[in-house]
Amino acid sequence: MKHLIIANWKMNPVSLEDAVKLAKEEDMRDVVIAPPIFHLSNVRKSVKRSALCAQDIDPVDALNGPYTGAVSPLLLKKSGVRYTIIGHSERREHLGETDEVIAKKVKAALGAGIIPVLCVGETNEVRAGGYMNARDHVLRQVERDLELIRGGVGKIIIAYEPVWAISTNNNGGVIDDAESAGEMIQSIKAFLSESMKLWAQYKIIGLYGGSVGINNVGTFLKERSIDGFLIGGASLRSKEFKKIVEVIHS
Ligand code: PGA
Repeated sequence: MKHLIIANWKMNPVSLEDAVKLAKEEDMRDVVIAPPIFHLSNVRKSVKRSALCAQDIDPVDALNGPYTGAVSPLLLKKSGVRYTIIGHSERREHLGETDEVIAKKVKAALGAGIIPVLCVGETNEVRAGGYMNARDHVLRQVERDLELIRGGVGKIIIAYEPVWAISTNNNGGVIDDAESAGEMIQSIKAFLSESMKLWAQYKIIGLYGGSVGINNVGTFLKERSIDGFLIGGASLRSKEFKKIVEVIHS
């Protein structure tokens, strides 16, 4: 099976020159690049194989509506963007993004023909209550965040990213074990296909994210429910990133 790999560059690189260089180095099949929005159009011009992903959108559905400063889904679509990350835990935590806002963003993305990459995941405190507690929390997030698109059709990507496993690998910190990550993604898929057929018409792709690197990608690849990866830190280290992609393709 083909895996989807999304490179989440977050707020890096700062310089346009570095962004274009990184984009050229990571321009590979099945790789989607999510650069800072300021670099989007130059990254688009620099790649031949990779698709483009925004790191966020605003929940507006009018191309020319009076929404000063908004990142318009339609403008992104017209700029060649195919995917957008929505509801990343960093936005939930630091920018106060709620499930209600996230649900509107998911609807706006699909309305503009952009595939949402909805991020869900539990914090350390929630996980301390056990795996089942974490699972309930994650499924509740999924339910709330997809609330406004019940009964529709299309493609949705759900990235399961346990908050406690994000950006830890590089410091030798905790990472999720592949089996429980696989189980969580399987539970999300089962929930969406079973929940009274509300979302059963959507094609669901399940990604794992949280300190994926060359040392652990192999174990996650063994999990059949995992259809790909959302990679932050390692996507800024192009040599390691290329090796990760090679392992995934092999
Ligand atoms: P990480 O980031 O790979 O550095 O943990 C993943 C993410 O935040 O999407």
